[in-house]
Amino acid sequence: MTQDELRRYLEFYQDLGVKTLVRRQAKHAAPAEPQPAAVAEAPALPALEPAGDTLLKILEDIGDCKRCRLHEGRNKLVFGTGNEQAKLVFVGEGPGADEDEQGLPFVGRAGQLLTQMIEGTARKEGIPLVRADVYICNVVKCRPPENRTPQPDEMEICGQFLYRQLQAIRPKAICALGSTATKAVLGTKEGVTRLRGKWQRWRDIPVMVTYHPSYLLRPYNQNAKKEAWEDLKMVLHYVYD
Ligand code: URA
Repeated sequence: MTQDELRRYLEFYQDLGVKTLVRRQAKHAAPAEPQPAAVAEAPALPALEPAGDTLLKILEDIGDCKRCRLHEGRNKLVFGTGNEQAKLVFVGEGPGADEDEQGLPFVGRAGQLLTQMIEGTARKEGIPLVRADVYICNVVKCRPPENRTPQPDEMEICGQFLYRQLQAIRPKAICALGSTATKAVLGTKEGVTRLRGKWQRWRDIPVMVTYHPSYLLRPYNQNAKKEAWEDLKMVLHYVYD
C-alpha cells in the first residue's frame, strides 16, 4: 500500500467516525511477543473501493440502507441514473419529493432545468449529447425531511457510496451542483461562487463546480444562470471535443 493509499484509507475510516484502528502484525514481520488469548485479531478492513467495483455491486452493498436517520422518511432510495460508462457525472445534493417517489435523481423541476441545461447547451455548442449519455447522482441517496440540507454525518456515511460510484465510473470530468455536492466532492467549505468557473480536482479527475439548478430556478438569480451556462459550456467542450 502506498503512503497516499494509506492516508485515504485512514481518512475514510476517520470520516466514518472510527477513531482507533488496531494494527495487525505484518505476515513477514519477526514473531512478536505472544498475545494474550483474550485479544482478538482485528477484523480485516474492507477495501475503500473494492477491486472490480461496479455500480451494481455498490447498489447491492447499499441494500436496504438504515445506516443513518434519513432512511426513516424514505419512500425510494435514489441511487443514480444514466450511462454507467459516462464521460461526465453530475452530482447533486439529495432527492426531493419527486425523486423520492420515483427512485430517480433530478426528475422534478430542478431536474427538468438540469436536462435543459445539458441538452440545450450541447445543442447550441454542436455537441451530440442527451441526458442519458451522462450519469447523474446525489451525495445522499435518501430524501432529507422537508428537503433540508443533509447533515455532516449523513454526508459522510453516504459519501462512501458516492466515492465508489465516481471511482467505478471514472468519468473524464465531474460537475458538482451546489454547495453540498461541492463540500462532499472537494472536501472544502469554500463557496460555489468562489470555486465555479475554474477546474478543481477530485483525486485525478477534473471537477467543475456550478450552481445547483434549484438555486437557478429562483427568479432573482438570473446572473447565476448565465454563469452556470458558461460553466457547463466549458465542461462539455472539455469532455466531448
Ligand atoms: N435536487 C438534488 O440535489 N437532487 C435531486 O435528485 C433532485 C433535486
